[in-house]
Amino acid sequence: MRHFFPLLVILLLAPLAQAQSFDEALQDCPGLLLATGSNTQQIHLQMTDDPTEMTVIWATDGLSENEIVEYQPSSNVGEVDAENYCYGNHNMAFHMATMTGLPLGQEIEYRVGNINSDMSEWYNFTTIDPSATHFEWISIADHGDSSEGMDVSEAIIADTDAQMVTVSGDISYADGEQTAWDNWFNFQQESMTVIPWLTAVGNHENEPGYEFAPYEHRFDSDQQIESETFWYSRNVPGVHMVFMSTEHDYAPGSTQYSWLEQDLSSVNRDVTPFVIVYGHKPMYSSNSYHGSEVELRDSLEEMYVAQGVDLVIAGHDHFYERTWPVSAEAVMDTGNDDRFSRGEGPIHLVIGIAGRSAYEELDEPQPEWSAYRENNSYGWTRLVYDGDVRELTLTHHRIDGTIGDQFTIQESTSIVESDDSSALGHIGMDSVFAIVALLGAALRKR
Ligand SMILES: [Fe+2]
Ligand SMILES: [Fe+2]
Repeated sequence: MRHFFPLLVILLLAPLAQAQSFDEALQDCPGLLLATGSNTQQIHLQMTDDPTEMTVIWATDGLSENEIVEYQPSSNVGEVDAENYCYGNHNMAFHMATMTGLPLGQEIEYRVGNINSDMSEWYNFTTIDPSATHFEWISIADHGDSSEGMDVSEAIIADTDAQMVTVSGDISYADGEQTAWDNWFNFQQESMTVIPWLTAVGNHENEPGYEFAPYEHRFDSDQQIESETFWYSRNVPGVHMVFMSTEHDYAPGSTQYSWLEQDLSSVNRDVTPFVIVYGHKPMYSSNSYHGSEVELRDSLEEMYVAQGVDLVIAGHDHFYERTWPVSAEAVMDTGNDDRFSRGEGPIHLVIGIAGRSAYEELDEPQPEWSAYRENNSYGWTRLVYDGDVRELTLTHHRIDGTIGDQFTIQESTSIVESDDSSALGHIGMDSVFAIVALLGAALRKR
């Protein structure tokens, strides 16, 4: 039994421009007025651009003035009244509240629901400390709820070291069927209550009869009930992450283009040596189903190269592909043993392998810019930032437990030079130990 004293009551006040009163919510969602019971579900964390905050969104059967989040950072207990809202004619009420004043890098306990009748169990998450020297997370795209998609979800839930999940669009494939979103969120709840999922919008988020409204109300990029921005950025240890929309205007002169230019040019590389852009459609893809989004490349590639973007992580084509560092289809660098120094050109990934049926036909021959590609397998990618050596490693996992691809980008240029003196250097001490161990084993066998 927990005792809530000293009680720090933090009221959700004006800064949320779209904050609305309960009466306004009733006007917007009259069908939910008489709903009984709250049936709290679909609880998910949403990361704001302030690391001392965390937003939480959940759904219930009906509107209530008593929906709150209670949380316990260190010695204080906070309580925030939630906003009530709905969208379209979907018969669920949604609630959003932001926990504030959280200590960095520490575990926070929280629960949500109707304070009088139906509070959830307690969940824990750890706030992200941007100055930490280690960060690991999972990136997926094109997910849905197929059996392969569920395998990926279960792998994410089992991965207790991951501190975040990103989705490069095509998230639930609800395609106008709103209960599909409800089911998708409930299936991810075990992960989404513990770590935040950050999303870029895909073409399947533009739904028949709803357009982007479900995405805008169920995910939060700007702490508004109806997220108005489809592009935003977040800093995590070592990495500046940009989430852009390939589904909205990105051409030079557009609002998104100006925002991207301003955001990318203001990154402090001392703080975040690496920059990753997440978006749905790929600038580079040698899958015959969709292929490279040439208009996107024509509009934005030059900016990404000029601003030193390191990775562009897309989906849309349901296969896995990694390019070399490229610019205008020219290979800028082939690295050394899957190890690259940053700054030669962005590496583009297509990772549309999280569950939707594979697109099997590939362009032949494999384009020169394509470093590795694989179809007919499902899985996810996992990224690790190691701040001690300022390196970023990406590993492509298949749902059968094997690894398909792996590479490292380092900030330093020191060991990628391909002269003879470095030939042993890139093998690495792990490999030397492995060779010594194998030799030892062979000798013992004799
Ligand atoms: Fe897709
Ligand atoms: Fe797509």
